[in-house]
Amino acid sequence: MSELAGLRVAVAGLGPMGRGIARVFAEAGAAVTVVDADEETTARGQAKLQEEGPPIKVDTAAGVTDAARDADLFVEAIVERFEAKLSLLDQVRAAGNAGLVVASNTSSLSIGELGKAYGDPSRVLGMHFFNPPTKMRLVEIIRGARTDAAVVGRAREWVAALGKTAVLCADSPNFIVNRVCRPLYYESQLLVTQGVAPQVVDAAIKGALGHRMGPLELLDFTGLHTHLGSSETALREFGDPRYRPIPLTRQLVRAGTTGRAAGRGYYDYSQGKPREAQAAVLRQPSESSARVRFAGSDVSTEDGDLTVYRTNTCAEKDIEAVRELARRGRVVVDSSAGGWVEHLPAGAGWVRLHGTGENGFAEVVSDEVAGIEPAYDVVDALGAVSVPVLALPGLVVDRVMHTVVNEALTLVEEGTAEAGDVDLALRLGMNHPAGPLEYLDRTGAAAVLAGLRGMLAGFGDPRYRPAQLLVRRAAGSRR
Ligand SMILES: NC(=O)c1ccc[n+]([C@@H]2O[C@H](COP(=O)([O-])OP(=O)(O)OC[C@H]3O[C@@H](n4cnc5c(N)ncnc54)[C@H](O)[C@@H]3O)[C@@H](O)[C@H]2O)c1
Repeated sequence: MSELAGLRVAVAGLGPMGRGIARVFAEAGAAVTVVDADEETTARGQAKLQEEGPPIKVDTAAGVTDAARDADLFVEAIVERFEAKLSLLDQVRAAGNAGLVVASNTSSLSIGELGKAYGDPSRVLGMHFFNPPTKMRLVEIIRGARTDAAVVGRAREWVAALGKTAVLCADSPNFIVNRVCRPLYYESQLLVTQGVAPQVVDAAIKGALGHRMGPLELLDFTGLHTHLGSSETALREFGDPRYRPIPLTRQLVRAGTTGRAAGRGYYDYSQGKPREAQAAVLRQPSESSARVRFAGSDVSTEDGDLTVYRTNTCAEKDIEAVRELARRGRVVVDSSAGGWVEHLPAGAGWVRLHGTGENGFAEVVSDEVAGIEPAYDVVDALGAVSVPVLALPGLVVDRVMHTVVNEALTLVEEGTAEAGDVDLALRLGMNHPAGPLEYLDRTGAAAVLAGLRGMLAGFGDPRYRPAQLLVRRAAGSRR
């Protein structure tokens, strides 16, 4: 017998989320009742729910209060408007069901505030399902400041019984996934503002990090207006200028070019699929018999035809070493430190290598304005697929990943979520092959800190201010 047999669940709101949530609970054996704004929309929602998959036993209620009266769990997935949710909670409370657990699927509203409005904050929590709930395994459980620990515990058990994975998050704007991904989107948009084409940004992120979709393609898919709304929430709630929206996105939203559904956003969908545009900017390696020798502060291999100097920084000692190598032969710097735009010797190349062998992928700096020719000899010799990028601090991949890691550490530092849950959330909620803190462990805190400080110096923007937890970790790893 299913672990959820006997559990009575009411779901309010039969949009895509409510329908999906109703289906997963019913499929797991719970007795599910659904309700929408009125009888007609409830009937329409029920019909749609039945069409979306195998027919399933789900009852309809005449109204919200009726649905709440005999339920153990009430999940609200109605429109994302505070006033609408408040009036819904009034109707739930009118049922007088003291043992009811009330879960909101809100993406942005405060659980504490909803709990207070309900009249019994100990019974209210967030159960944030991902779209589509039938496929996505992750559920963020949001604990309001006054939510009862036993209520959180029961919600975790129900999520497990659905065959899904719960992560725990404090009542903080954007929760885990949407918060940690803020810089992924901000930096991608800023790169476009600074002259890098959207398909180049997306191809670099997919190629180097193994993400299934590029961040700009994903923004278009979600809708730029939705992203802009959550940026405004983050800026208002945190009061930190690093969350401020990117002006280009605001312009696109005002022009009605809000993404894929509108036919145009960062991509123009009349011109083909983002995937095709991204494939077109990738360069496949040519045959080469050249041998590469690696040098740098912590590497040194045998002689070769060309030398790759690998470094996280563009410090005096790096500049000296590269100058010396350039006097002796062909040298290519492997780095994302922005200082190289000014200190790369004439004739030297600049790349950032990710992965090796068959998975070899490289960003190759190709910047006419800065007078930097693409070092295709190196990527050919290494057999790496590559994408040309501009000479900007952090290039593309490190710029995005270092800021994402910094955001993840900020979340951990402030106690919003634990490191393990942050990684799990990004793996399951975004399909990232590795969580940001796993990435940090692999890369090293000192490298990420050097990257952020380089960007802070290069851009002069508080977006790149390192979290104190990162500074402390880097110091700890040195001692
Ligand atoms: N769409 C997503 O990707 C996503 C992901 C996670 C969470 N969420 C959140 O889930 C909730 C629902 O999202 P959606 O995209 O399914 O919404 P939607 O706007 O498509 O659908 C909302 C449904 O609620 C109904 N409704 C409105 N007022 C109601 C009331 N007073 N009582 C009962 N029903 C009412 C509407 O008729 C509609 O059917 C929102 O809070 C949203 O922020 C959405």
